[in-house]
Amino acid sequence: MIRSVVRGFGASLPKRVMTNGDLESLVETSDEWIVQRTGIKQRYIASEGETTASLGAAAAQEALDRAGLTVADIDLIICATSTPDNTFPATAVNIQNRLGMHHGFAFDVQAVCSGFVYAMATADLYIRGGMAKRVLVIGAETFSRILDWTDRTTCVLFGDGAGALVLEAAEGEGAVTDRGILTSNLRSDGVHREKLYVDGGPSTTGTVGHLRMEGREVFKHAVGMITDVIEGAFTATGTTADDIDWLVPHQANKRIIDASAKKLGIPDEKVVITVDKHGNTSAASIPLALATAAGDGRIKQGDLVMLEAMGGGFTWGAVLVRW
Ligand code: ACO
Repeated sequence: MIRSVVRGFGASLPKRVMTNGDLESLVETSDEWIVQRTGIKQRYIASEGETTASLGAAAAQEALDRAGLTVADIDLIICATSTPDNTFPATAVNIQNRLGMHHGFAFDVQAVCSGFVYAMATADLYIRGGMAKRVLVIGAETFSRILDWTDRTTCVLFGDGAGALVLEAAEGEGAVTDRGILTSNLRSDGVHREKLYVDGGPSTTGTVGHLRMEGREVFKHAVGMITDVIEGAFTATGTTADDIDWLVPHQANKRIIDASAKKLGIPDEKVVITVDKHGNTSAASIPLALATAAGDGRIKQGDLVMLEAMGGGFTWGAVLVRW
């Protein structure tokens, strides 16, 4: 049985840090309000010249370096993003070119904050189907470029950045003790469109548009949807919350993360939190959190790691991986 095993990880953040204090001079808000409601203390914001593709390429190169590989070893690049450099070509193809890779193939996945989970599930199918041996899976975003910087209910929540994993085909027995992706559980339901969307696009307004969100509505659905897909992943693999070494959630809001972990019975010390430093970086938040926790030695080879996300659409999903 073929398994998709994590071979390397990387991250890239813009140079500029924007603190909650900096935001106080842009909109009527306070550090206290933002920290209390979201857990966010600062975020990174892309400057001129920093784009989704440039951040994604830097994260991908770091993942390759860490794996001791070059682009010659890669067959496929999947980039999860909702803030592409251009409507087309795909950001993944832009990144492929930036990395100097002129073989194989590359495409984007668009599932907003769930994008990285969708991209992992997709990469796993290409690997297990035999179409790719090694895949660069990237989550990269510049949400700062689609924020309405006069809307305090949204502009304080998001940040920019990118993270990447190298997934590699390996032989496994199929048991949950083997390394690699054990299961993926994806969902979407467009009935929730109005609760979190961008009010522009090439086929409607011909503009890029701005992010609009009914925060309370998102919050109301988030915990139930997240715990539902995680429980589905437990059932599919015969595992339980007790088996989990690390929960690596999409970093939208500390209150959503805490409530989900509590409902599942996963203790705080097993939950990776980066929302305080990165804000919500949408599809980039999970690979950034993975790179943080694997980079500082918390996540170790053999650990059972649950990834989960929920976002615009709504889309939501979970991936269970033995690191
Ligand atoms: N600073 C100060 N006050 C603010 C701000 C701000 N930045 N934003 C809103 N307020 C005010 C509101 O105007 C409101 O004032 P009012 O009572 O006088 O009308 C008050 O604060 C409370 O507003 P609510 O929207 O009810 O605040 P809530 O406690 O729901 O927190 C938040 C808002 C943080 C957006 C919350 O609803 C939330 O976290 N929702 C989840 C949304 C999310 O995380 N989305 C990310 C994308 S989806 C995903 O990734 C899962």
